[in-house]
Amino acid sequence: MQQTRLVSSASYVPSIGSTNAALLGRPAPPGTLLIADEQTAGRGRRGRSWYAPPGTSLMFSLAVELRLDAASRSLVTLAAGAALIQAIREALDPVTPRVGLKWPNDLLIGEAKAAGILTESQDELIVIGVGINVDWRDVDPPPAIQATSLAEAAGQDVDRWDLLGRLVTRLDAELEELERDPGGVVPRYVPSCVTIGRTVSATVGDRSMTGRAVGVTTAGHLQLSLADGRRVTVTAGEVTHIRPAGHPDERA
Ligand code: BTN
Repeated sequence: MQQTRLVSSASYVPSIGSTNAALLGRPAPPGTLLIADEQTAGRGRRGRSWYAPPGTSLMFSLAVELRLDAASRSLVTLAAGAALIQAIREALDPVTPRVGLKWPNDLLIGEAKAAGILTESQDELIVIGVGINVDWRDVDPPPAIQATSLAEAAGQDVDRWDLLGRLVTRLDAELEELERDPGGVVPRYVPSCVTIGRTVSATVGDRSMTGRAVGVTTAGHLQLSLADGRRVTVTAGEVTHIRPAGHPDERA
């Protein structure tokens, strides 16, 4: 892999519980990249598990320390999403399936999820965990999982090590830029965010609301316009796209 400012040591393991948990548990020095072919206790956002059969995916975690104030830390996840979509577009070029980011950072192809990012931190250490469904053409996922993979969408083989190199290079650039100008990531992220313009339901703590996603603030939070005209900002939580893209009500 190309040497970057970000990565000082890279290792690959055939199987592990969770690459995020491993780096947080040590804790690993910044610059540690840990790649696994299989995770037996892969972690997703909001306490969910991450499913990926061996040999089908790219899964890794990267430990970083960034010069960022506390308020800008939630932007790391957007920067990682922006890097992810750039790397995937590059890797799949010239085939360009409809990739987009569901806020904050699920990578969708059409309406199906093909990758996710879980950013966790401990003191100054930030661990960015990425799971990409690279080739699930022979996978029969459990019914609860509505997912696709890059190879299915592109109709071609995808080299996961080539993709990893591109992604680390993009992450390096995005995180450097993030330290220089935290809010500047938002205009790079927004054009790929397919949540904007959609009607969504958002669950924040024990409150649920439905509204139209109208933008992302400079702090990386999602702005909703509710039916009664109120504007609310979703800082964290679960967002569901509740109407299919292209529905007449989505275009107004
Ligand atoms: C999500 O969309 O819910 C986030 C999924 C993140 C999965 C990756 S796979 C590598 C890293 N290690 C983990 O345990 N989770 C992340």
